[in-house]
Amino acid sequence: MSFLAALQNSHLMIPEKYRAMSKEELEQRVLEMKEKYGTKLFIPGHHYQKDEVIQFADATGDSLKLAQLSADNKDAEFIVFCGVHFMAETADILTNEDQKVFLPDMRAGCSMADMADLEQTERAWEKLTQLLGDSLLPLTYVNSTAAIKAFVGDKGGATVTSSNAEKMVKWAFDQKERILFLPDQHLGRNTAFNLGIRLDQMAVWDPHTDTLNYEGELEDLKVVLWKGHCSVHEGFTVDNIAEVRKDYPNMKIIVHPECSREVVELSDLAGSTSYIINAIEKADPGSEWAIGTEMNLVNRIINDHPDKKIISLNQHMCPCLTMNRIDLPHLVWCLDMLETPGDHNRIKVSENIAQSAKLALERMLEYA
Ligand code: 13P
Ligand code: SF4
Repeated sequence: MSFLAALQNSHLMIPEKYRAMSKEELEQRVLEMKEKYGTKLFIPGHHYQKDEVIQFADATGDSLKLAQLSADNKDAEFIVFCGVHFMAETADILTNEDQKVFLPDMRAGCSMADMADLEQTERAWEKLTQLLGDSLLPLTYVNSTAAIKAFVGDKGGATVTSSNAEKMVKWAFDQKERILFLPDQHLGRNTAFNLGIRLDQMAVWDPHTDTLNYEGELEDLKVVLWKGHCSVHEGFTVDNIAEVRKDYPNMKIIVHPECSREVVELSDLAGSTSYIINAIEKADPGSEWAIGTEMNLVNRIINDHPDKKIISLNQHMCPCLTMNRIDLPHLVWCLDMLETPGDHNRIKVSENIAQSAKLALERMLEYA
């Protein structure tokens, strides 16, 4: 079932009784279910999840770590993924046939992943290969649908995450002269720039107008960036940086590479979710940090480091709305339904898509 179809399907909406339960009752129920299922149940949680949920995760991590854990876990029969839809799809693709993956709220999508659909990508590929011949290799950020990963897998390309993007872009340039980077233009641009590719060697493909925005000579073109972005990380601006520099002259600014090039350029450090967590962990007591990433994580880092002064780079930033859809009532509901007929909230990628998407994921997992 497609993500949109799931949204329209009312039996996938949480029953009222879960909303009526107290926090204590809900927490008790999760503990009971974890006790009941033991190692048959595995709950991975992305760092952007709420505290009320992450406290019950068997493992926490960024996109790369959670993909690796999914590929390695052969014991759990039920994987209840606390993250967003594309992460649960990835877990389903990388696990065995007899393992079932569930997403506690089917509305937990990702606006960035929705910015590249298969029809748009096939149209783009046709036009770009007419223009550039056989010189292009597609790479997709894991923050994309299984169908896009499958497309990329079939064309010899691979997935990337924010923690291995540089390695994977280098790998891609060993295969072909140019890359098409889907769907996050910012991660693509920041990564290519770090590898020495000039901004004037990068073009942007607009999937709404089917046009390539590029002013240079075609022979110089190295990277085609898909015009997609993360609505959370685009919320950090050059003005936010100027305010922090003015108000806190000793503060270091660290951001996620899903932020725009201008923001990354003006920051002191940029890296994946794990990179940010590790940098703050290693920092000296008393050091000052402004962090440009998702708010649930920033708040957790603030609480974990009372010895450092830490703020969000944007004081008005909100958590990722779709990550936030996974809350305690949805987690309990999902756990209660694990063995009921109908596979409520199960994420199952169709076999033909899964096979091709796995090629793209495995090329990444083997290499980086
Ligand atoms: P990472 O987990 O790779 O840092 O990605 C961040 C993100 O936006 C996940 O949705
Ligand atoms: Fe998608 Fe951005 Fe939310 Fe990650 S933080 S799930 S990329 S919208």
